[in-house]
Amino acid sequence: MSIDFEQLRADALEAVSAAGDSEALQALRVRYLGRKSPLKSALRGLSDLPAEERARVGRLTNEIKNDIEQAVAGRSEALEREHESELGGREWSDLTLPARRGRRGHRHPITLVEQDLDNLFRGMGYRVVEGPWVEDEWHNFDALNIPKWHPSRDSFDTLWLSDGNLMRPHTSPVQIRAMKRFGAPLRAVFPGRVFRNETLDATHEAAFNQIEGLVVDREITPGHLFHSVKAILSAILEEDVETRFRPSYFPFTEPSFECDIMRNGDWMELCGMGMVHPTVLEAGGLDAQEWTGFAFGLGIDRLAMMRYGIDDIRWFHRGDLRFLEQF
Ligand code: PHE
Repeated sequence: MSIDFEQLRADALEAVSAAGDSEALQALRVRYLGRKSPLKSALRGLSDLPAEERARVGRLTNEIKNDIEQAVAGRSEALEREHESELGGREWSDLTLPARRGRRGHRHPITLVEQDLDNLFRGMGYRVVEGPWVEDEWHNFDALNIPKWHPSRDSFDTLWLSDGNLMRPHTSPVQIRAMKRFGAPLRAVFPGRVFRNETLDATHEAAFNQIEGLVVDREITPGHLFHSVKAILSAILEEDVETRFRPSYFPFTEPSFECDIMRNGDWMELCGMGMVHPTVLEAGGLDAQEWTGFAFGLGIDRLAMMRYGIDDIRWFHRGDLRFLEQF
């Protein structure tokens, strides 16, 4: 049996360098180096050869075997590198991408409007202060110039608690708390929930939200009040709103006004306000000879309804996802 060793080496090296993937390479390894390969049978047949032939053929087959092994190892590495760089092109990771988040809820429309209001007022130098939902009679009524016998107490539809305290029917008691806490001059808003014993309909809820504004300084006039309220409403509604100020009555302001704005050809009542009554300044610990101020109270729910085109205030508390998911 004679083998053309040089032809075998040339064939093997060519085939190995052309192997397209690791399976093809493995098949070539078996074919050229495996137990049944021509090289292995040549090695097995060495003992039958004459001595001088044996040495020559032994050296040659070993040399060829080494060459093929090296070629297989080299090709294998090259294939591995190719595979990796191909993967790199296909399966790369962008480490700058933000991590995937779980499903999250979102803010309630009332909260959205309230946060906008907070930011708006902060930008105008007002501080944002919250007061308690459960109030005492003094902060809610007496300090606001509404003594026990005063008929306007009845107009608040107050929800009384068995301990004599009450669910605040407006945010005005926070005026007193803020004056006592911060003194004058003062520029602050008090957003938050209020409660009334109301008969519910599309525009009345037993729990709703107000934002109260209070400015105390020297020589504050109704001019400051009218200008501020118009500027604030225009900023909130993002248009130059047409306002109308009507005389009104609140025990804690004198004079008092009601502000209406023009909406779709109709005047809409939006905001009670007035010059802070001297008795209220004194209840807040301030000298009414020295300090003056104005206050206003805005309905947040009504603003949210206007902004989002909501036709019934009762949607806000229904917890209906079909409604809530729109915001
Ligand atoms: N507290 C009044 C209300 O709830 C609104 C108001 C606030 C009026 C401040 C005057 C000044 O109706």
